[in-house]
Amino acid sequence: MRYRATVITISDKGSRGEREDKSGPLLRSMLEGEYDVSEIIIVPDEVDLIAQAIRNEIDERGVDLVVTTGGTGVSKRDVTPEATQLVIEKDLPGFAETMRAESYKITPFALISRAICGIRKESVIINLPGSPKAAAECLSFVQKAIPHALSKIKGDMEDCARP
Ligand code: MTE
Repeated sequence: MRYRATVITISDKGSRGEREDKSGPLLRSMLEGEYDVSEIIIVPDEVDLIAQAIRNEIDERGVDLVVTTGGTGVSKRDVTPEATQLVIEKDLPGFAETMRAESYKITPFALISRAICGIRKESVIINLPGSPKAAAECLSFVQKAIPHALSKIKGDMEDCARP
């Protein structure tokens, strides 16, 4: 089963065309081998617009995986976790815990991340940091578990076969 994915870049400057989006294309390239990845969506750091973009991808377009990049820190405009919390129906704490724990081995600044991950309907939402390097690192820490999570969310009742 080939799942569908969307990358949403969350950046005020990116949405105004004042900064080139490097994280979105990098994440897209990491996902492309395994998922059908839509065009990257760029939205400003606004709770309503972020929540609306995620909802639209899942509820209207039926995308299985929504990956966001940016806005997970503690700057005044960082609101991605708040927007994500609005649309999540079940938390996936292990994803965010693992991203922070593994990232902490690289940089103590990893603890600043407030990223959350969760499930809406039969889809997974993952917050990643904004910088290309940080986003790629964090995705790599959880990437292997995503298809299995999706198959379970969508009703697979088989026993879990560990890789
Ligand atoms: N995680 C990894 N793997 N590598 C990093 O360099 N940077 C951290 C953190 N997580 C980092 C990381 C920093 S400096 C910040 S401020 C937070 O992610 C939040 O990033 P964001 O506000 O761009 O989303």
